[in-house]
Amino acid sequence: MAFKHGPFLFLAVALTLVMAAQAKTIVVGGSENWRPGFNYTDWSLKNSPFFINDKLVFKYEQPHNIYLLPNLYSYIKCDFSGARLLAGPNNGAGDGFGIVLSQYRLYYFASSYGKDCSDGLMKFFAMPLPRWA
Ligand SMILES: *[C@@H]1O[C@H](CO)[C@@H](O)[C@H](O)[C@H]1NC(C)=O
Repeated sequence: MAFKHGPFLFLAVALTLVMAAQAKTIVVGGSENWRPGFNYTDWSLKNSPFFINDKLVFKYEQPHNIYLLPNLYSYIKCDFSGARLLAGPNNGAGDGFGIVLSQYRLYYFASSYGKDCSDGLMKFFAMPLPRWA
């Protein structure tokens, strides 16, 4: 019996290692970083799916920032009244600001500065998938 299960156990261990190794660090916007005039909805579609424990890194200059919006409505409206500030204008320099997508939920990201959000570009959402999905 142990012999029969051997290959399966090997496969399970190998898959676990592959899955664990898959947690990625992703720079939001790639070489464009986090800036006005770049379409992050488009970027996130092209870089999906994200997985749980992937890390998003935002690199940006002042005066931009990063908020987590509470729901789809506030995301669409760019309503920051119930939003949580993740990183202020000074946090995007150097290695940038990183956030691990540790939960199975929708993350709505946006910059609140000026027309960053309301022009429709400096915002996107991410839904990290479980690794065994
Ligand atoms: C941004 O990209 C999305 C997805 O490709 C597209 O639907 C949308 O029209 C674009 N927005 C602008 C302002 O170009």
